[in-house]
Amino acid sequence: MIEITNCTKTFGEGTPNMVVALANITLAIPDGQFLVVIGANGSGKSTLLNGIAGAFIPDTGSITLDGVDVTHQPAHRRARHIGRVFQNPFAGTAPTMTVAENLRLAALRGLPKRPLLGLNRAFRNQLRSRVASLEMGLENRMDTPIGLLSGGQRQALTLLMATFRPPAILLLDEHTAALDPGSATTVMELTERIVKEKKLTTLMVTHDMEQAIAVGDRLMMMERGAVAMDIQQAEKSHLTVADLLARFAGKR
Ligand SMILES: Nc1ncnc2c1ncn2[C@@H]1O[C@H](COP(=O)(O)OP(=O)(O)O)[C@@H](O)[C@H]1O
Ligand SMILES: [Mg+2]
Repeated sequence: MIEITNCTKTFGEGTPNMVVALANITLAIPDGQFLVVIGANGSGKSTLLNGIAGAFIPDTGSITLDGVDVTHQPAHRRARHIGRVFQNPFAGTAPTMTVAENLRLAALRGLPKRPLLGLNRAFRNQLRSRVASLEMGLENRMDTPIGLLSGGQRQALTLLMATFRPPAILLLDEHTAALDPGSATTVMELTERIVKEKKLTTLMVTHDMEQAIAVGDRLMMMERGAVAMDIQQAEKSHLTVADLLARFAGKR
């Protein structure tokens, strides 16, 4: 359970560029929920995810994860429990390292004591079978530098890495937005499968209204750092893209 209580975050306080990115936001996300977050540019979506990840200390309010107050806990201490995928397929992986080497890092990430595991045969086979589960044929490219793969292939691997050891929370920030439509669909299907299989508590930001309706079990719209709409599965399933666009228009 993620509990965000009365959180405010202002950037550039006291300057002409001052912006209230989070405006006294209160939000509870139960375990295993898949929450989709939409909202205009600058409405605070990324700031919300960054706040959960610990990129900053909120000006007011608190954040608890599974009952533990992490408001003042630095990002690196939370990282073990949080998987993240960003818009840019080039973030989150090391381009000159091979698929196998990148996965090895993901497999070892957050272990209290890093065993000096090399890429022995058994470990390689384990990594290979995980890659095969993506059903993209990438298990045959384990020794290819990840930077040589397409954006979609790379984003699928980033997702696999972010969830390699299932995190308590998965944060996806427009992670399909930079991909061509076919790759975006593949990565989205993969996302739904992984979230479901591992029962991950997930926040996903998207600008794709069809995706926002089809995916997840709760939909929230942000506006100027606050929650402008928050609906559960039952109501969400009746929405159309036109309904959502109308709600956007009504907010302007
Ligand atoms: N590190 C930062 N420094 C200054 N302003 C920021 C910073 N991060 C976000 N902002 C501002 O906060 C507002 C919300 O940004 P953001 O959360 O990135 O919006 P969204 O992801 O919804 O597009 C924007 O006006 C943005 O310019
Ligand atoms: Mg953003």
